Amino acid sequence: MQAHNENAAPGLKDALLRLKEEALSTLKSVNKKEELTLLKAKFLGKKGELKQVLSSLGRLPEDERVLVGKVANEVKDALSALFDEKERALELKDQSEKLKVSIDTSIPGRMHAFGSVHPLTSAAEVIVGVLERLGFMRATGPEIEHDFYNFEALNIPKTHPARDMQDTFYVAEDVVLRTHTSPVQIRAMLAKKEPPIRVLSFGRVYRRDEDITHSPMFTQVEGLYVDEHVSLADLKGTLLAFVTQVFSSDAKIRMRPSFFPFTEPSMEVDVSCFALGDHQDCRLCKGTGWIEILGAGMVDPEVLRACGYDSERFRGFAFGMGVERIAMLRYGVTDIRLFFENDLRFLRQF
Ligand code: FA5
Repeated sequence: MQAHNENAAPGLKDALLRLKEEALSTLKSVNKKEELTLLKAKFLGKKGELKQVLSSLGRLPEDERVLVGKVANEVKDALSALFDEKERALELKDQSEKLKVSIDTSIPGRMHAFGSVHPLTSAAEVIVGVLERLGFMRATGPEIEHDFYNFEALNIPKTHPARDMQDTFYVAEDVVLRTHTSPVQIRAMLAKKEPPIRVLSFGRVYRRDEDITHSPMFTQVEGLYVDEHVSLADLKGTLLAFVTQVFSSDAKIRMRPSFFPFTEPSMEVDVSCFALGDHQDCRLCKGTGWIEILGAGMVDPEVLRACGYDSERFRGFAFGMGVERIAMLRYGVTDIRLFFENDLRFLRQF
């Protein structure tokens, strides 16, 4: 028994070391994770070779069992570490192969679809930007407006024929969808007791209008300046500065007498045609050399009085325009409805 045990210990130790050597050399040639899994089971698995060697450990005397057991543990730890390391190496190899396949720097990049600013927004930004640089400050008012601000305070009493100039959507007897941005003038004057007042209003307005140049909902921008000594010359200078920045640096203006109940005198303002070439067959000015862009005038003293101002001391000018009309002129659009249809074929051109 003794002799058998003496032979068994070195035999087991050798078997362990051989096992380690064999595992090491086989591991070197492993290239796939599946092969590694099989190999791990073969050497370190529950029914693996190491377990088999260890199963005969029990037959050794106590002191030798400890010695061989120690060697067995060392072999087991070393092999486990080697298998883990190989596993990580194969994992890395796998990843870098995947990357090699997926990154082809010669493939053209994917284009992202970018939106663009709506032509009405960019026209409004230009108009409002110029007026702000001229010193006008933005003021706002409601789109659902009281009859008083939209009409009465603007010198358009209930029975006055001037109401026909703006075909109105009534929400209730004395409440309308505002037909213009002029009620913002009234609100600004009533809110600020002491001139100078220099405001611009910008926003949606509504009228019962519909054809290729008129829309039931459209956008207006309006300017108002009230102070002592404000004159028609100031209005003309302001509008000239405006058109030279919005249309062309050599643009000129022309004022034609007109009528608005809230201004006196009132005028339609034209800008010199900015289309290139001969104006004979010009689509913009129809051969006249002039394009109508806005309505303007000196604030009627009656309106100043309705807002509580001394109309002997203070005077003002006001002007108002449709953003769609300016955008149609700037971009050569002939049908106003295109702005509101959200047709990408149209919008992509801007
Ligand atoms: C007015 O609305 C005045 N409040 C403007 C004003 C302000 C005059 C201050 C004097 C002093 P008018 O109705 O002309 O004016 O409209 C002004 C502009 O709005 C027109 O020149 C036109 O460009 C635009 N407009 C009018 N109706 C429509 C519509 N249905 N669709 C699109 N644009 C319109």
